[in-house]
Amino acid sequence: MKALIPAAGLGTRFLPVTSVIPKEMLPIGSRPALELIVEEARSAGATEIVIVISEGKELIRRYFSGESDIKIVYQHEQKGLGHAVYQASEFFVDGEKVLILLGDALVVGCNASKAMAEVSAANGGASVIGCERVPRERVSRYGIMKMAHEFDVAEGDAFELADIVEKPSEEDAPSDLAVAGRYLLDSKIFDFLSDQIAGVGGEIQLTDAIRRMVACKYPFFGYIYRGHRQDIGNPDGYFNALVSYRAKEGR
Ligand code: UTP
Repeated sequence: MKALIPAAGLGTRFLPVTSVIPKEMLPIGSRPALELIVEEARSAGATEIVIVISEGKELIRRYFSGESDIKIVYQHEQKGLGHAVYQASEFFVDGEKVLILLGDALVVGCNASKAMAEVSAANGGASVIGCERVPRERVSRYGIMKMAHEFDVAEGDAFELADIVEKPSEEDAPSDLAVAGRYLLDSKIFDFLSDQIAGVGGEIQLTDAIRRMVACKYPFFGYIYRGHRQDIGNPDGYFNALVSYRAKEGR
């Protein structure tokens, strides 16, 4: 298994500081957030880690320059998460698993990637999407999971996925389970991304390519990880990440 960390986004929600420091490099204690994400990937078993960056984010390249398992690729135009992921396609071969960790999403309280790799292994190598429960009134901000068979799920549960609905209204949401920054996908995803047209916001969306894959009957599971996603892409989220990381990890 290899990992892929998209970190090429513009970081507009966290300007002006992101004009000089990539949000992924903001400190959590004494280390950049991205180093904690790299560590999560390594301890989940990733043998190589590809980080997607953009011009102006060379600090990331410099910081990890001594690490032989880390490769850097560029996304020259910010056309969306799906497009960023596609820039790393040359590193992956058919039949391989791609562990995607969003560079601005810190998961505190568990190693979500490791648990997802275990869920995949226990389910014949299916793709697994990490998710988290969110309050009903906030479902319209996320990709929301539709379960193939409804049952009462709790943290640590996996379930077969029927679909993902991007940013549904509260009434239309098929559940309160939101896609939460971690994906373990069959490398077939690159075929779907290669001709993926732009979706919401004019961006090439990873979710749209996943939906097409699910519709083609590739096996997919959702997994509710035992921890919390902290979105460090905005000032409030970053503050919460600092507080919860210190509370959980004591540093
Ligand atoms: P976000 O949408 O949260 O990041 O993408 P963004 O575009 O940087 O944020 P704003 O809206 O301008 O504040 C989630 C992850 O995907 C990466 C981001 O770097 C982040 O880690 N991303 C997003 C890319 O690598 N390329 C893109 O074109 C978009």
